[in-house]
Amino acid sequence: MSREDRKLDHIKFALSTTRDETGDFDDLHVVHRSLPESAMENCQLDTQIGGLKFGSPIFINAMTGGSISTIEINRDLAAAAKTTGVALAVGSQRAALSNPQLTETYRIVRTVNPEGVIIGNLGADTTVEDAKRAVEMVEANMLQLHLNVPQELVMPEGDRDFRGILRSIEQVVRHLAVPVIVKEVGFGMSSETYRQLMEIGVSQIDVGGRGGTNFIRIENQRRTSDDYPFLYGWGQSTVVSLLELQLIKHPFDVIASGGIRNALDMVKTMILGAKAVGVAGPILRLHAEAGAEGVIQAIDTWHEHLKIIMTMLGVRTIRELSSVPLVITGKSKDWCLARGIDIHRYAKPLHSL
Ligand SMILES: Cc1cc2nc3c(=O)[nH]c(=O)nc-3n(C[C@H](O)[C@H](O)[C@H](O)COP(=O)(O)O)c2cc1C
Repeated sequence: MSREDRKLDHIKFALSTTRDETGDFDDLHVVHRSLPESAMENCQLDTQIGGLKFGSPIFINAMTGGSISTIEINRDLAAAAKTTGVALAVGSQRAALSNPQLTETYRIVRTVNPEGVIIGNLGADTTVEDAKRAVEMVEANMLQLHLNVPQELVMPEGDRDFRGILRSIEQVVRHLAVPVIVKEVGFGMSSETYRQLMEIGVSQIDVGGRGGTNFIRIENQRRTSDDYPFLYGWGQSTVVSLLELQLIKHPFDVIASGGIRNALDMVKTMILGAKAVGVAGPILRLHAEAGAEGVIQAIDTWHEHLKIIMTMLGVRTIRELSSVPLVITGKSKDWCLARGIDIHRYAKPLHSL
């Protein structure tokens, strides 16, 4: 099967797959305050990743490009990103690096949104040269390098040898002129991974946790035999991935993604230290149902909801959210206890306010 057909399969199965898990967000309970002394008009949604200013903490995460029929999706997503002021990541640009005729399927996002924040995307096993070409292709402000070992292994035609990826990432981080984000694609990250990335100089990570789009499920559905349902729960949820950050003293600008359902999930990730939040599968579904207009409406609504929750909590900025008390229960609490993550640190009352 060609890379183009595979990309179309991913879209088809991402749209048809039902979700039977959560990113553990329901284990997180935000402490309500009855006297927040706040006003919605004072809430500011801007944030910073890799020294770049984002007008909103929400961004459209990497999905598509690389086949002629996806040009329309990228055009519409870019239009929605422009109207709502959010950043947009394109899908893996490997296809266009191999076949330049596909360049326009990515380039369209820059044509439609010349001033916006555009994030390029490649697998983390790339050369510096290809990373530079990917950035040039869409005049990217940043580049995502994705990690997807479980997906490759379940994909019949996928990679089977993952040696040397850390070294590739190190080279790209060192030699690229734009900030690099290392991201997972829905299997989450652990402190073991964070430590490896920190040691080679990575400064931006997207935890890409379990709970939303499930690439083991998608790849299994593409197979002729149904071999891998036993791996559907593989990986760390988005919440657990964020909690794992407590185990290291890290320098990262943290991005949360994977199974984000609504503005409350977004706020919870930001209480756990995320500075931005990526959404992929739900945006694809909104686009399939209602086009660019549906995506615009959803993002506008999320912005409104973020401000409503921030007003209830008495915080004005995304950064201030990281000091809001949060109680952790259920499976996430069990995970913390087993891994030595201090849950009391998050629940501490804010007596100073
Ligand atoms: C159809 C589809 C294609 C995707 N392609 C890519 C890709 O090319 N590169 C990448 O880094 N992530 C890719 N992703 C993963 C998303 O960026 C994101 O990490 C993952 O879907 C989890 O977020 P979600 O639960 O909001 O969908 C893709 C996701 C979907 C739904």
